Amino acid sequence: MSQVSTPDVRVLNSSDEVARAAADIFTDLANQALKAGHPFTVALSGGSTPKLLYRLLSSGEYKNRVPWGSIKFFFGDERWVPHTHPDSNYKLAKDELFDKVPVDPAQIFPIPTEHISPEDAADQYSKTLVREFNLMGEKGMPRFDLIFLGMGDDGHTASCFPHTGALHANETLVDANFVPKFGTYRITLTPPVLQAGREVVFMVAGDSKAPALQEVLKGAYNPEMYPSQLLRHGQGHVIWLVDTAAASQLKDGGTGQVRTEH
Ligand code: 6PG
Repeated sequence: MSQVSTPDVRVLNSSDEVARAAADIFTDLANQALKAGHPFTVALSGGSTPKLLYRLLSSGEYKNRVPWGSIKFFFGDERWVPHTHPDSNYKLAKDELFDKVPVDPAQIFPIPTEHISPEDAADQYSKTLVREFNLMGEKGMPRFDLIFLGMGDDGHTASCFPHTGALHANETLVDANFVPKFGTYRITLTPPVLQAGREVVFMVAGDSKAPALQEVLKGAYNPEMYPSQLLRHGQGHVIWLVDTAAASQLKDGGTGQVRTEH
């Protein structure tokens, strides 16, 4: 287990500012990767918060600043629904980003969810990561340049939910995680893959997240209850972009410096 990293917590005025900060990080890192001469690998988050990010990135303000052709788009997790379903994380990214910017389908790696079992979907996506990250066999670990994550009111991230099997999937890259509260599966990158991200950026907004955010950042280490705490053992740079509502219960002390960006 790696040592606890000190999270970089940035408090912003609104969810729009959270999205803007995320768009700036994405744009800067993508251009740095281009200058360094390697593809930029990003794992997109699910949920509703990324929608604001996608809309910014596809807007005139950012669209022409991003080297779209040098980016490979992956997903941190996916709901167990067809890619045409309104709950699909892929559909959200397609509708709000991919259909509006110059990316080739060959640059996009959706998690398979149709005509396949959850277990085979996880296995297939794992093989996609092994191939696209040029990993030698099963022992390699994909290190994403950037992983976007959200956090649920219960402290989950990606589809690592409290008290579910994915929290212990430390020998695989992708897990088919049955989530009792939904009565269905989610396909998710596993904790080791999330922890290996070079830059991990959480986007958290809204007062419903405040109690969990306080526990995740400042509470006793209990990832069974608060899976987002797993990123305390992130091997890269972990940034928390949070709005003032989500940060409203953050107390002084504990891990992580809290910066207010106004
Ligand atoms: C998903 C996500 C999930 C999400 C959080 C926050 O597929 O739903 O990956 O982890 O990021 O639930 O969701 P919101 O951004 O909608 O609050």
